[in-house]
Amino acid sequence: MAERKNTEFDRAGGYAAPKGGIAVMREGTSRLRSLPIVLPGDEMPAHEVADAADKPYFTASEPDTRLYLGDCRDVLARLPDRGKVDLIFADPPFNWEVPYEGWKDGMPRDAYERFTYDWLDACIECLAPHGALWVNIPDDTAAEVVMHLKRRGLAMINWCVWHFRFGQCRDSSFIASKVHALYFVKDAKQRRWNPDAVLEPSDRASIYGDPRTMAKESNKGMRVPMDVWYGPYWGRIQGNNGERRHRHHNQIPEVYLERVILSCSNEGDLVLDPFCGSGTTATVARAWNRRAVTIEFSAGNAESAWERITEVGMVRKGASQGVSTAIAPKRRSLEVESVSDSSPAGRRRGPQATRSRGSR
Ligand SMILES: C[S@@+](CC[C@H](N)C(=O)[O-])C[C@H]1O[C@@H](n2cnc3c(N)ncnc32)[C@H](O)[C@@H]1O
Repeated sequence: MAERKNTEFDRAGGYAAPKGGIAVMREGTSRLRSLPIVLPGDEMPAHEVADAADKPYFTASEPDTRLYLGDCRDVLARLPDRGKVDLIFADPPFNWEVPYEGWKDGMPRDAYERFTYDWLDACIECLAPHGALWVNIPDDTAAEVVMHLKRRGLAMINWCVWHFRFGQCRDSSFIASKVHALYFVKDAKQRRWNPDAVLEPSDRASIYGDPRTMAKESNKGMRVPMDVWYGPYWGRIQGNNGERRHRHHNQIPEVYLERVILSCSNEGDLVLDPFCGSGTTATVARAWNRRAVTIEFSAGNAESAWERITEVGMVRKGASQGVSTAIAPKRRSLEVESVSDSSPAGRRRGPQATRSRGSR
């Protein structure tokens, strides 16, 4: 397929966004709906929905927050919010034999793929027409998730990477230091998108002192984050990390959920997480005044997560916003060294010098 070049120079400094490439990708994806694509997990029988509690295990109000106990494939099939969910974030078990309480994390590969397609389909049924689905998934299943969502007709907006730098040491291959954060929507034209809520200082401002960034009409010195996510507070939650909930495995950092929730939902929206774990999604959603529904298989995990969601709360609110992720030292200062900071604290302070938080 021929690449169409975008010749609209619509960015400061005379640059054009590569709209042609994205349009070609979306056209190609729409064809997948009608092709008979068979993935290995398709050979297994689909999950037969079993009885599940249709009442939440825990509820809280202001904003409405609910935790359901059970297998998410069963709970999602009966959820009263089907078709009305604005944003889903899913961080499933990776089938890496993690000793989750109650859940067996070591299925034969084809059964795991079938499990994956079943919960993905159940999530799609729950999404509102403008809804977004984010999936946190490692290298070994990312391709299958992408193919399944494309053949179901969802549009990929971003394939982000969560990059971490601690705790994966090995010498038999390159060290694993990422998980994929896949961002899909039902309808690219209707999706929620709030870039101003997640801005960070640009490299032009932080490193190069390029005055063109201060010539922009708004958000001077700031940019939407790139699609590789790292920085202070973005590490894996381990050791004595202040966010850590000790009984849980694979807890995701609050900054990750904060970026997803602020950019892809509005206040009052409904955010769903089918794999609650320690409750990171509902904790962050509640802190930012979103309604939340979450599902957990293990009663013990659910109790602990609920304590976090309703009593401990978010401990790093605003930490994902307005922080430079520059990896090179500053080469030149801006003459007027001030960039806007969109974090809540920044909005109170007004324009500030470029900040960069120290590492933990
Ligand atoms: C990777 S962890 C989620 C971690 C979470 N994102 C956090 O930040 O704490 C997966 C969680 O899903 C739960 N789980 C596994 N299979 C499930 C299922 N079929 N339905 C609901 N929960 C499930 C596990 O018990 C575990 O707590």
